[in-house]
Amino acid sequence: MYYSQEVVDEVLRGNDIVDVISSHVHLQKRGANYQGLCPFHNEKTPSFNVSPSRQIFKCFGCGVGGNAITFLMKYDNIGFQEALQQLADRAGVKLPVQDYSEKAKKRQEEREQLLQVNKEAATYYYRLLRSARGRKGMEYLTGRALSAQTMQKFGLGYADGRGSDLTRMLKEKGYSDEVILKAGLAAFDEKRGIHDKFWNRVMFPIQDMGGRVIGFGGRVMGDAKPKYLNSPETPVFDKSRNLYGLNMAKRTKKPYFILCEGYMDVIAMHQAGFTEAIASLGTAFTQQQALLIRRFVKNVLLAYDSDGAGVQAALRNIKIIRGTGLNGRVIDLRPYKDPDEFMKALGSEDFQKRIDHAENGFFYEIRQLEGNYQMEDPAQRTEFSHEIAKRLCDFTDEIERNNYLREMARKYFIEEEALKKAVATYGRAGAGTPEGMPETPARPSGRSGDKKDRKTAAGASDLRSQRLLLTWLIDDPGLFGQIREYFSPLDFEEGLYRQAAEALWERLEKGEDKDPAMMAASLIGSFESPEDQEGAAALFSERVPDDPNPGKTLMEVMTSVKRGTVARLVRGEGSGDAALTIFREKKKQEKLPGVNIHLSSPG
Ligand code: UTP
Ligand code: MN
Repeated sequence: MYYSQEVVDEVLRGNDIVDVISSHVHLQKRGANYQGLCPFHNEKTPSFNVSPSRQIFKCFGCGVGGNAITFLMKYDNIGFQEALQQLADRAGVKLPVQDYSEKAKKRQEEREQLLQVNKEAATYYYRLLRSARGRKGMEYLTGRALSAQTMQKFGLGYADGRGSDLTRMLKEKGYSDEVILKAGLAAFDEKRGIHDKFWNRVMFPIQDMGGRVIGFGGRVMGDAKPKYLNSPETPVFDKSRNLYGLNMAKRTKKPYFILCEGYMDVIAMHQAGFTEAIASLGTAFTQQQALLIRRFVKNVLLAYDSDGAGVQAALRNIKIIRGTGLNGRVIDLRPYKDPDEFMKALGSEDFQKRIDHAENGFFYEIRQLEGNYQMEDPAQRTEFSHEIAKRLCDFTDEIERNNYLREMARKYFIEEEALKKAVATYGRAGAGTPEGMPETPARPSGRSGDKKDRKTAAGASDLRSQRLLLTWLIDDPGLFGQIREYFSPLDFEEGLYRQAAEALWERLEKGEDKDPAMMAASLIGSFESPEDQEGAAALFSERVPDDPNPGKTLMEVMTSVKRGTVARLVRGEGSGDAALTIFREKKKQEKLPGVNIHLSSPG
C-alpha cells in the first residue's frame, strides 16, 4: 500500500459508489439498495447489490464484493494505484505529491525502465536471428514452416550460445545490473557473475495489449528440457493478466477468440489467417484473462491439445469461461495433437470446418464425464444421470437451464420429468440456487470464504450470526457503546472474521468516524489481498432481516454469537485460562437478555 488509509478514505468519500458503478452497470433502486446484473458473472436476474449506506457492493450470485476502488480494479482489470488515481481525478482529490513522488513515482520509473530494457533485448534477439550468428535459429523456425513475414509479425528472435553478449550490450547502454536482473534477462551466480539468462534458444517476445514487450519465452531447438524458458513475473509482466497474441487478436472482426495452449499454436493459426488466436502465458488460464477477453468478444473457442492434459485443461477453463459470462465452445482437433499440427496436415479450410462444428462447452463436459461410466450398467447409468442433474443446477437462468435439461434428457435417454425433479432436489440442497426456489441466506464470498468456513468448526448459521452482528455494527455504530461490555473481537471466528472485527473495534473505540457510509468501504480498503477484500465485503453485506421487531432479532443474533464463543472455548480452541474465561463468557451470555438495546435505525 503506497497511500495512507486517510488518503484512500478521502478518495472513497469523494466518490459515491452508486455513481461509480452506474457508469458501467445499469442499476435499479430496490429498497435502500441498488441492484443490477453482475458484470463479473453470467446471470439473467440481478443478484448484484450496491449499498449506498455502506458504500460497498456485493454479488450474491458469484460472491465478488468490495468498495468503489476494488470495483474499478476488477472491472477495468487495473491495479490499485490506477483505480485510486481514476477515482481521485473523478472526485477532484489531489493525491499527495509526497506519496506519489516517493514510492509510486519510483515504481513508475522502474516500469518504464523494464519496458525499455525489454525492448532493447527484443531488438537484439530479432537482429541476431537475422544475422549469420542466427542461422541455427532461422533453420529451426523455417523448418517449422514459419514464413519470414510471420517471424517478423511476432518479432521472433534468437539467443545464441555465445558469452553474455546481451548483458554486456545492455550495460554499455547504461542499464544497471539491477534492472537487467529484475527484467529476468540475466541471472547471477558466484561463478559466472551476471550473465545472460537465455541462450541457444529461439525467442518469443511476449507483448501486452498495447504491443509493448513485457517478457520472453525461449524455446530450445531440440528436445532438451525445459522446452520453454520464460521470463519471471516482473512489475510489467503479470502472467495472469495478459494473453499471447492479444495485441493482434483484439482487432479481429469475428465475434470470438480462439484460445490455444501454446505460443507456436497461436503463431501457426495467425499465419493461416486465424488472427483471432490467443494463448495464456505458460501458466494456467485465469479469471482475469477471461475478463480481459470479455472486453472484446463474448465467445471463446478452445483449441487445446487433444491429449489427456489438454482435455483436463479444457474442462477446467470451460468453467472459468462460463463463470465470467463468456460463452465457451471446444474445437475437436483429433486425430491431430494441436492446432499447429492440424494446420500443417489439413490446412485452414478444414480448420474452419472444425470451428463451425465446435462443441458447446457444457455438452463437452458431459461427454467427457460419460467416459467415466459404464452405461450398460443401470447403477452407473443412474449415477451419471444424477451427476448431470447436479451440473444443470449451475445454470441460474431458468430458461437456459430448461433448454439444457431437455437436451440432456434427449441425448442420454433420461426421462425429462425425472431429470427435472432431480435438478429441483439438488438445486434446493446445493449451492446453485435455481430461480423460483427459496433463496439461501447470503454466504460469505465464494472461494476464500467457503474454504475458511470449512476449516473452522463453526456452523454456517453461527458464522451468519457473526456476519450479521458485524454488519449491524456498521449500519448502526451507536450500538457499539451498548454491547462493548459483552463482546470483543474474540467472539469472532479466527481468521478473516477476527481480523475484520479487530479493525472495526479499533475504529469504533476511537469513535472518530461514525459515518457508517464510510466505515465498511474503508475497512475493506485496509485488507491487502484482493481475496481478503472480497471476504471482508461479505462480512459487511449480510442482509439485516426485515423484521417488525429488529431488537428481538438482534438479541437472537448476539445470543447465538456468544453461544458460539462459549462452545469454542469449551472445545478448547483459543488459549489462556480457559476455565475462568468460559465462566466469564457464560456470565455475559446469561446477562444478554437483560440488556436494553436501543436501535437508531429500524433494521
Ligand atoms: P506446448 O509444449 O504445447 O508448446 O506447451 P507449443 O507452444 O505447442 O510448442 P511446440 O509446438 O512444441 O514448439 C504449451 C505452452 O506451455 C508453455 C508455453 O507457453 C507453451 O507455449 N510451456 C511449455 C512452458 O512454459 N514451458 C515448457 O517447458 C513447456
Ligand atoms: Mn503444443
